[in-house]
Amino acid sequence: MAGLGFFLCFLGWMNLCDGTETTGLFPGVFAYGDSVVDQGNNNGIITLAKANFEPYGKDFAGGIPTGRFSNGKTPPDLIAEELNVKYAVPAFLDPNLTSGDLLTGVSFASGGCGFDPMTSRLASAIPLSTQLKFLKQYKRKAIAMVGSRRADTIVNDSLHLVVVGTDDLVNTYFTLGALRLRYNVSEYTDYIASRASDFVRELHETGARRIALFGVPPVGCLPSQRTLAGGPERQCNDEYNEAARLLNSKLSNVVDSRASSPATKTHDRGCCGTGLIEVTPLCNVYSETCGDDSEYVFWDSYHPTEMAYRIIVRQLLRRYVRRFF
Ligand SMILES: *[C@@H]1O[C@H](CO)[C@@H](O)[C@H](O)[C@H]1NC(C)=O
Ligand SMILES: *[C@@H]1O[C@H](CO)[C@@H](O)[C@H](O)[C@H]1NC(C)=O
Ligand SMILES: *[C@@H]1O[C@H](CO)[C@@H](O)[C@H](O)[C@H]1NC(C)=O
Repeated sequence: MAGLGFFLCFLGWMNLCDGTETTGLFPGVFAYGDSVVDQGNNNGIITLAKANFEPYGKDFAGGIPTGRFSNGKTPPDLIAEELNVKYAVPAFLDPNLTSGDLLTGVSFASGGCGFDPMTSRLASAIPLSTQLKFLKQYKRKAIAMVGSRRADTIVNDSLHLVVVGTDDLVNTYFTLGALRLRYNVSEYTDYIASRASDFVRELHETGARRIALFGVPPVGCLPSQRTLAGGPERQCNDEYNEAARLLNSKLSNVVDSRASSPATKTHDRGCCGTGLIEVTPLCNVYSETCGDDSEYVFWDSYHPTEMAYRIIVRQLLRRYVRRFF
């Protein structure tokens, strides 16, 4: 892990707070990882981890389900918006992608993905190794469009978000449980951290320089995990939270943006259905949704609402001093 700190820079953004012009500082925003940053890549693949149906996207432009796992915008969209890059970051596999979309950044992420290749396999998600191949494919496309010097600059100078690890802990380690018989939390988080280090190194080798690696949230407080592992009172599961804290400490210097809990009213259940367990495909067109989702931290039992993401993204952009400039 020694080398990792070097890459874990963070976007600091004093200008955002005082309203100074932020246009043009990053040519684009890219994302890798799981459902938090999957902008619709899973729409065309065979997996249960999909969100391209109602009520997902009900607050997105035009109320269209795009495959984003929330009621509205997700972190890449909000970051691109705050940095004045563009309104929203599309999925790389979106068949309607325009050249303009491509040159200002796309997401390669896939719901269900983990640092552990087994996590991606279990969910039939696009693994990180393939997401990296997509970046290389992306570069070739960009070179054909604008030439190699400009394409290099786009990749080198853009912001690259890496949001993954939750499904490794929740799905692969705790829920599935087979690995748990062989490895303790300390060993498994060592393994995940070494995969994270490898991934960031490979991204760097492909040209990415401004890489933001996110920590995992306190997974024991996800509404679904309160239901499955929180006992009759649906408490946060301390063992799960401790594992998340340990993993984050191993991803040292990690921007732990997901750990802070936004001050929104309801945080122990999601807005979709009963909010206790529903997540794609159980949160669907037949599910009732809460009246006002801006009062909820969670959209479904696993994924935050746009409002919660907005609060988190603002805190994050304010908190980190300008390390990229
Ligand atoms: C692509 O555009 C067509 C025509 O506007 C539309 O019908 C289709 O839903 C779009 N596909 C996606 C995945 O957005
Ligand atoms: C985890 O397992 C390793 C190897 O068996 C052992 O050295 C370590 O003490 C264990 N850690 C905990 C917290 O039990
Ligand atoms: C971008 O990064 C690549 C890979 O590290 C490097 O070879 C290239 O010189 C950089 N190009 C620019 C324009 O910064």
